[in-house]
Amino acid sequence: MTNRTPAAQRAIALHRESWGKPAVVSRAPGRVNLIGEHTDYNGGYVLPMAIEFDTVVALSPTRSGRRSTVISEDFGKAALDSKRESIDSTHWASYVFGVSHLLHGHGISTGSWNCSIATDVPIGACLSSSAALEVALAAALLQLAGESWEPAETAQLCQRVENEVVGMPCGIMDPLISACAIAGHASLIDCRLLDVRPRRLPEGTVTAILDTTTRRELVDSAYADRRSACGRAADWLGVAALRDARLDDVERMPDELANERRRARHVVTENERTLEAAQAMCEDDAEALGALMNASHVSLRDDYEVSGPALDAIVEIAQTSPGCIGARMTGGGFAGCAVALVDTEAANAFASAVQESYRVTTGFDARVWLSRPAAGASLLD
Ligand code: GLA
Repeated sequence: MTNRTPAAQRAIALHRESWGKPAVVSRAPGRVNLIGEHTDYNGGYVLPMAIEFDTVVALSPTRSGRRSTVISEDFGKAALDSKRESIDSTHWASYVFGVSHLLHGHGISTGSWNCSIATDVPIGACLSSSAALEVALAAALLQLAGESWEPAETAQLCQRVENEVVGMPCGIMDPLISACAIAGHASLIDCRLLDVRPRRLPEGTVTAILDTTTRRELVDSAYADRRSACGRAADWLGVAALRDARLDDVERMPDELANERRRARHVVTENERTLEAAQAMCEDDAEALGALMNASHVSLRDDYEVSGPALDAIVEIAQTSPGCIGARMTGGGFAGCAVALVDTEAANAFASAVQESYRVTTGFDARVWLSRPAAGASLLD
């Protein structure tokens, strides 16, 4: 059991207004990925941490037959029929429907329920607001059904919600870190084996999340395009996934596959950087970790081509601001957030300098949050 966060207070208040005291309240965090981008769906390594922003679900059983009702602080109200087999994948409640539907498919019956949702995870900012919702809801529904909480299995179910119900072909990173994170630590995750190893940030450093305040839907063709290019590269290389590819073999790919070659080069080098970053964390080597983050951004920008003007601008500004040890875009890309590793003592000066320069350079207001690594999903009192 964990203490109540601001989102928890709002979710419970919302629930009380409509239905009275909730029977179950659960929370799950958003995440920021320190390094290891676009490697998860290639069977590779990622190094994310949960952030101090939660999505909270308050739930109570009802006797209203097949009909469940959900209210979101941000999106309004929706009714869900338990006999329903599909949903419009663009509807916000498709995440809620998906979790409940797939749990049902596993023989986990929750009856009908009322559910209220509140979140402090910025939506659409590449901080995994959708995984936080899915994981929090799955935790609450499992508790309501009297079932045990298996974090890795729950993460796989949430990934299926994205892939099969929402239509987003994402990997396992986001729900897995939201479910499994250990407070005070980032996690080196082997996305093939679903092995999660805690890693501490170097002494005297803090993570800064830099929100460009630009947004782009991930359910668009660019993410799927990158994924299929990786699949074609793996086929040509004769490996099950790009995790198994070697850089010299990638460099031998023919010019008619130049695009696939660049994508594969990013994945193979990013996997190496991620393992080196985890090692640097074991050795408390902030400089080495920062340099790897900078190199990751170059690779994402030039080889994988998933950065964008706002992300490039904020990363460049961060890298030249006081106290910065390393910075890169984070998450799916194109818009949303970057992440920086910053000297703790300079963190406030760093945040002000980034905001000021970003305003001057782009005309937009950036948001900057300093976050310690938070804990994965939990039930609340
Ligand atoms: C999104 C997806 C993740 C991962 C990242 C890129 O966040 O949901 O599975 O692929 O993009 O690293």
